[in-house]
Amino acid sequence: MVKINEHYANIGNNYLFSEVARRVREYKAAHPAERVISLGIGDVTREIAPAVIEAIEKATREMSSPATMRGYPPEAGYDFLVEAIIEHDFHPRGVRLEADEIFVSDGAKSDTGNIGDILGQDNLVAITDPAYPVYVDTNKMAGRQVELLPCHPANSFAPPFPSCPADVIYLCYPNNPTGTTLSASQLKTWVDYAIEHRSLILFDAAYEAFISEPDVPHSIYEVEGARRVAIEFRSFSKTAGFTGLRCAYAVVPKELTAIASTGEEISLNALWRRHQATKFNGTAYIIQRGAAAVYSPDGQQQIRAVIDYYMQNARIIKESLERAGLTVHGGINAPYLWVKTPGSLTSWEFFDRLLNEARVVGTPGSGFGKSGEGFFRFTAFGKREETLEAVERLKGLL
Ligand code: MLT
Repeated sequence: MVKINEHYANIGNNYLFSEVARRVREYKAAHPAERVISLGIGDVTREIAPAVIEAIEKATREMSSPATMRGYPPEAGYDFLVEAIIEHDFHPRGVRLEADEIFVSDGAKSDTGNIGDILGQDNLVAITDPAYPVYVDTNKMAGRQVELLPCHPANSFAPPFPSCPADVIYLCYPNNPTGTTLSASQLKTWVDYAIEHRSLILFDAAYEAFISEPDVPHSIYEVEGARRVAIEFRSFSKTAGFTGLRCAYAVVPKELTAIASTGEEISLNALWRRHQATKFNGTAYIIQRGAAAVYSPDGQQQIRAVIDYYMQNARIIKESLERAGLTVHGGINAPYLWVKTPGSLTSWEFFDRLLNEARVVGTPGSGFGKSGEGFFRFTAFGKREETLEAVERLKGLL
């Protein structure tokens, strides 16, 4: 008889954002006349950049002729996109990468979730707490032992080192959910730690494009030695509105190795290539053309305008909540605001109160981990008029 993966007993029944969506659906069903504003899941609301749309349309037309149509894409991405990524995302920051170190994919969620497939089950895993739920859930699904690294105002949201040497460390900066960052020197302490303990850092840089301050590294490879210890994940989702189009990439440097039970050092680049070749058939050509257009001069100017729009939303939320007396973190180098709930309300109590009394949806901090209890996350990805209306409604409540 078929058996289940017993490790699923160690994760909750519902993925965080599905649970939030479920509660909102229930509320709407019970109050059909009410207009609910979502500042919950970080989903983009602005139209896709015209340069991207044009490129997608052109690529779609290419599909209509036998001479220019494309079948299965290369598993790790078309050269035109990989070259654009290296030239625009890394060269200006002094980071040199080779084309076969980039793996184009359909999303950083799948990449950060699947990367564990190439790592042994007995690795000790350290994850900042709170964190994007995919890191903890996927490691629990695999049966790995996880140590949470509490991040809170008292340590300025800088994670402490694990209590015993970790083999794998997840870092996400700019951080989801707290919106906070690590400086270059703070990040260097983690790279040095990983070199000393021969650990692997899984660096999620999905929100890199939102950095506005100079001392915040955009890539972990800006830190010396990081090529030997880190995989980096990037995404077009938030940078260029691709949440519905799906395109991202992982950087797996060729120096990176992990140890096999035979004692042999195995290339993680080779293992990830093997993984992707087996489980993934590449990102659609038309989507990769759209992603490449993000790097055109028009594309750059258009996505920058959208990012500025979201960050203006962040300022509106931050200033308004602070004026109402709440403590707000983040929102300067990231599109997320991490807010201390008023009084002694738990995260879910605050969620229910906002939904029922202000018809505003946010994300309960405790859904991102134990250290998120008593906090609440707002996203800046809303429409301007809805963001303004949401803060007005909140003012009446606080
Ligand atoms: C979030 O709200 O944390 C993200 O949008 C979720 C995701 O990227 O999967």
